This record gives sequence, structure tokens and C-alpha cells, in this order.
Amino acid sequence: MKVAVARERAEGETRGAATPETVAKLIALGASVTIETGAGTLARIPDEDYARAGATIAPTAEAAVSGADIVLAVRRPAAATVSGAAKGALVIGTLDPYGNEADIAALAGAGVTAVAMEFMPRITRAQVMDVLSSQANLAGYQAVIDAAVAFDRAFPMMMTAAGTVRPAKVFVMGAGVAGLQAIATAKRLGAVVSATDVRAAAGEQVESLGAKFIMTDALKDASGSGGYARELTDAEKAAQAELTASHIAKQDVVITTALIPGRPAPKLVTRAMVESMLPGSVIVDLAAERGGNVELTQPGQVVTTPNAVTIVGYTNVPGRLATSASQLYARNLVAFLDTLIDKKERQLAINWDDELVKATVLTRDGAIVHPNIKVA
Ligand code: NAI
Repeated sequence: MKVAVARERAEGETRGAATPETVAKLIALGASVTIETGAGTLARIPDEDYARAGATIAPTAEAAVSGADIVLAVRRPAAATVSGAAKGALVIGTLDPYGNEADIAALAGAGVTAVAMEFMPRITRAQVMDVLSSQANLAGYQAVIDAAVAFDRAFPMMMTAAGTVRPAKVFVMGAGVAGLQAIATAKRLGAVVSATDVRAAAGEQVESLGAKFIMTDALKDASGSGGYARELTDAEKAAQAELTASHIAKQDVVITTALIPGRPAPKLVTRAMVESMLPGSVIVDLAAERGGNVELTQPGQVVTTPNAVTIVGYTNVPGRLATSASQLYARNLVAFLDTLIDKKERQLAINWDDELVKATVLTRDGAIVHPNIKVA
């Protein structure tokens, strides 16, 4: 059972799909592991560390992947990168299939079984494999760090001989995994924190972290399926905008994390709201990669508006914490693989009827098999 990891090719991808710790775990499960040279460099993992954990280092992606039964990746690899893997090999990563159906079809054409980790059901058994949570958690933390760096004032209240510095006011929009971590991090830095979400259940979680929950009565509860949010009606959007407009004008820092599955990120912060903020205020838009929650966000960039509001629109925010993000991501992968391996035989033994497998497998035997992925 050969496991391969090629260097990530996607621009700006700093994370790796294996760490020395997970290499050792894979070997204990009966695998041999081959890693392309440099695959961990940007996550500060030198080849020697992988080798010390028992991996073989290969000079090219082709050499690493050749004959592999399992290919681990962070981003969707090109079909050409994995075409030398064994027939039916598992290619496991965040495959981002929507809008990229042709690439998924190419993976099917390459004869591999493509597995999208981001489709993992959010059930208790699969929490340890939940890459969305592990990465969003780090992104929520990093958003506050990025805000603090861009902010020209201190976050905590400071009582000094030279006088008192007032604490920063931080408003978090979207209190899912990333938002809750952002709230906790901003609290730890000493900010006065408030937050909003369209799911009523989020209110209790926000308050349990010591932040104030902001929500309008016009919006009862917009929980959708699977614990996610549904899209708001126009009337609900207007009520939410009215509430947040007056609140945002009084904030120093706004962190937006709102997402709706399968939809572009909802626009929550308008140009007028940005213009209402004081000079020196900071917005961090964690939804930048999905179009942004803020009207003025430029994905991948940090921009300053004419009224001196800084809008931070980094994409791949977990990749800004490459070492921690790789560590958690690689553990997520091994936790899933652990369910696919027969421990006695030390071989892959996939139960194709397992709900985790059914939810995540996109291609099999040369065809796209996932019901939600349609090639035009
Ligand atoms: P997400 O990344 O899809 O969205 C982030 C947040 O934005 C969500 O809280 C959502 O309600 C909010 N949002 C959407 N539209 C909004 C709007 N117009 N205004 C304000 N906020 C808006 O969600 P995430 O972080 O992946 O988590 C969603 C839910 O799944 C949460 O309830 C979380 O606790 C739950 N979950 C459950 C897990 C499990 O294994 N049981 C694992 C991870 C998350």
C-alpha cells in the first residue's frame, strides 16, 4: 500500500498534506510513504524530517506518485500529476469541484478515485476528519491577528501612567467555526467583542464566549440543513442591514466570516457602511475567496479606502499558518484513511456503502459518481 504526496502546485498554497507525525502513522497502518522533494518546505518541514519518519523522498511528482494506491493532497491535483498512480488509486484532498467539473472529469479519465474531504458529513464520527473545521478554526484566529497588525491602536484597555487606552471594539459577522474562534481570540487580546449570525443557535455560543450577540427580531432563525445557514429573504436582508449599519459605524474592527453552502458569500457590508467607519478602522473579510462579505473587498489584497479604512482580503488564510494548518489537515486525512484500511491485512478495504465514503467520493471506475457533480 503506497501513499504518495506531491508538492502542491496551486499558486500561494503553503500547506502540505503530510507531516512527519502522519507519515509515521501511515507507516504504522501498513503503508509505505513517498514524498516529492520540497513538499513540506513552505510549511517548514524539510525533506530530512519526512525521511527520518520513514518516508522515501522522490525527486519529482511523477516519481513520487508512480504506482501509488493513495495520493494525498491539499488542493486538487491535475490529472496529469496523478495519472501514473495505480488504477483506481484514491486521490484525497480538498477538490473544490463546483465550477471545476471538467477537472474532476479529467481525474475520472485518469482512472483515479477522487475524494473531496470538504464533503465530509458533519456528524460526530467524522469530526476528527473535518478539514473545513480544522482550517476555519485557524483562519478565525489568523483573521484577528491580521486585524491587530493592520490596526494602528492597541486591542486591550491599558491603564498607564500616561493615561488610559480604550479597548478596541471588534464585531464578528458570522459565528460558525471561524467566527467563534475569532471571537475567542479577540477576547483574549482584550477587545470588546460583539457578533451576529442568522442562526439563532449561534447566539448562545457567542454569549458563552463573553461576546454580545446582535440580532434583529425581524430575523427569527435562518438555520438551513446540516447546521448551515440558508439564504435570507430580501426583507430579512434589509432588516439585517439596518441593524448592522448602525452597529458597524461604532466599531474599530469588523471580521466577516459568513458563508452559505453552494452560494456566493452574502454581501453584508456595503460601501456606505465602510464609509461610516472611523479612519484607521480595519475590516478582515474571511469570505474573500468566495467573493467576499464586503462590497469593497479585493480578493487576495489589502486595500485602504479614501476614508482610511483598511480592508484585508487575503485568500487561503489557513495557509498563512502553514505549519499549524498542515499539522491539523494531515491529521484529518489520516483519521479518514484509518477507516479505509483493514488493520489485519494492512491493505485498503473500502466500504463503499459507508456514508463518509458515499459523501466524499466524486469519481470511480472512470466516471463521476457523485450526485451533485454534473458535467455540462
Ligand atoms: P459556514 O462556514 O458555512 O458559515 C459561517 C457562518 O456564517 C455560519 O455560522 C452561518 O450561519 C453564518 N452566516 C451565513 N449567512 C449569514 C448572514 N447573512 N449573516 C450573518 N451570518 C451568516 O459555517 P461553519 O462555520 O462551517 O459552521 C456551520 C455550522 O456547522 C455551525 O453550526 C457549526 O457549529 C456546525 N458544525 C458542526 C460540526 C459537527 O461535526 N457536528 C462540525 C463543524 C461545524
